[in-house]
Amino acid sequence: MDRNVTIHIDGVAYHAPDQKNLVEAIRDLGLEIPTLCYYPHIQPPLGTCRVCMLEVNGRPVCGCESRVMEGMQIQLHTPELDDHRKAMVELTFAEGNHFCPACEKSGDCDLQGLGYRMGINHSRFPHLFVDRLLDFRGRRLVIEPNRCVLCQRCVHEIRTSDDRPVFSISGRGDHTRLQIDEALESTIPDALALRAMQICPTGAILYRGKSLSRTPGDRQYDVPAEVVSSVDIVRLLKEARPDRKWRVATTSLAGCFGCHMSLLDIDTDLLEVIELIDLDRSPLTDIKHISGRCDLGLIEGGCGTDENVHVLREFREQCDVLVAVGECAIWGGLPAMRNMVPLDECLREAYVRAGDPEPQQIPSDEDLPAMLDRVYACSEVVPVDYYIPGCPPGAPMMWQFIASILTGASTSLIGKVFKYD
Ligand code: SF4
Ligand code: SF4
Ligand code: FES
Repeated sequence: MDRNVTIHIDGVAYHAPDQKNLVEAIRDLGLEIPTLCYYPHIQPPLGTCRVCMLEVNGRPVCGCESRVMEGMQIQLHTPELDDHRKAMVELTFAEGNHFCPACEKSGDCDLQGLGYRMGINHSRFPHLFVDRLLDFRGRRLVIEPNRCVLCQRCVHEIRTSDDRPVFSISGRGDHTRLQIDEALESTIPDALALRAMQICPTGAILYRGKSLSRTPGDRQYDVPAEVVSSVDIVRLLKEARPDRKWRVATTSLAGCFGCHMSLLDIDTDLLEVIELIDLDRSPLTDIKHISGRCDLGLIEGGCGTDENVHVLREFREQCDVLVAVGECAIWGGLPAMRNMVPLDECLREAYVRAGDPEPQQIPSDEDLPAMLDRVYACSEVVPVDYYIPGCPPGAPMMWQFIASILTGASTSLIGKVFKYD
């Protein structure tokens, strides 16, 4: 029988089985510790993601690689540790190319779930957009290396009957990437190939034709969005500034206008809100230039052309508060999927190879905006004050957030109120 010992977590004494895995022990005590690579079935633990860092007796350690010992003094939640863990997850997002609305694992992805739980609505780190092409060589399995977090679960678990690994890791630094041995992949049973997709904590391994096993609403990290009454929004705006209207500008850069459509989606309440807000430059007013100082600027879309950069800088100069709205403004989104392919190749593919009906010339005119080498998130071009995630963000959440920014009322974007997909 396990012998219990006494440990202290954040100053509180607990009893836990001696030598038990520390992550398991902490969870058994009803406390929360984030993990990404940890998979109880794999022993010893992989210890590759560092998301489970905590302090034991004043020293930083990896929770999943530690065991319970008598007298341990554990710091689980301090501002520094929480921020460190959040930074590790943000780095993971910035290192790959994660556009959740287009991902087969969305809703069932551990990385996305961590993002929701930690309230991550952008990454503080520059996006790398390393050139990693999809690998379609497997008979059943497709590898999307831009979503791989290099946890190595698949390397350890997916092996042939004579114990040869189907997956391996190669390269160094930015160029480290997952490899699949397509000859071995063709020899493993279907159930094991399917298991590869299931144990991957992200959408990096896909089984052809079997990726969408669960529908939205039934997925692991589906959380019903909290509905915010727009009456509160109207009241907030009215009470905070009864004598004059708020001035708001909006624009769509490399986006699809979906966020603007969502902005309109508060039905007849829009009529009340519009009495309290003057829209300056906006696709909704068709005003082409900001006419003066604005309280708030809402940006949809990232920067794919020099014109996008010009408009974004103008918004930054003229708006007291600048908000990136939606995935494309925050991460680059769907347009940033071109970042993995050189620009001239993209243009050749679009106009020459796939020209309709005949190959076309690549447009070139001094009046056309110049394409940038890649699509940039707004925060890579100018400082952004706030981020509203979603594709598109829901209208009630967007208006709750806009009203809170304008009036200074506090609001929360944790878990229940925002979605990446
Ligand atoms: S759902 Fe897909 S795109 Fe989103 S974080 Fe997970 S792996 Fe990345
Ligand atoms: S493919 Fe998935 S399981 Fe394999 S190393 Fe990458 S993230 Fe981990
Ligand atoms: S969960 Fe511990 S290192 Fe990844």
